[in-house]
Amino acid sequence: MEHPEPTRRDFLYIATAALAAVGAGSVIWPFIDQMNPDATALALASTEVDISAVEEGQSITVKWRGKPVFVRHRTAKEIEEAEAVAMGDLPDPLARNANLEAEAPATDPNRAAEGKEPWLVMIGVCTHLGCVPLGQAGDFGGWFCPCHGSHYDTAGRIRRGPAPENLHIPPYAFTSDTVIRVG
Ligand code: FES
Repeated sequence: MEHPEPTRRDFLYIATAALAAVGAGSVIWPFIDQMNPDATALALASTEVDISAVEEGQSITVKWRGKPVFVRHRTAKEIEEAEAVAMGDLPDPLARNANLEAEAPATDPNRAAEGKEPWLVMIGVCTHLGCVPLGQAGDFGGWFCPCHGSHYDTAGRIRRGPAPENLHIPPYAFTSDTVIRVG
């Protein structure tokens, strides 16, 4: 018995089914990909930063877990300015420092590591809607987020604008005088 020629309608049906399969594949893949962190992602769970070349007044941005992390070598003047700020002038009174308890106040020492006050290590993501703020900028000499105008001071604390929280400080530790391990 002869097979009937596929009608145009059958052909359209087959073509649509094939397209649907491709579509479903492309939706499912990123999901599976996220569920299986590969070796690179695991290696980045913590990252070592060599700060030996970062001079006073300079900062660098490194990547940790896909996010920018600012490492700034503050000048004595920048530290003094941050220390002089009255707690009542801070819109967010909390240190937001993953290395301290959650209720720690946003004093300047609580924004740095003990004995390493010149160094600020912060996640470079604006706490408003997630833009990356610009360093050495803004009305308080710290960071400025141009997306909606948030000004952070030289301790990375929000001082003016819509951002609700100080820039967050990730877990980190000095493994030597010139190396910081983030994460
Ligand atoms: S995202 Fe920074 S001010 Fe809105």
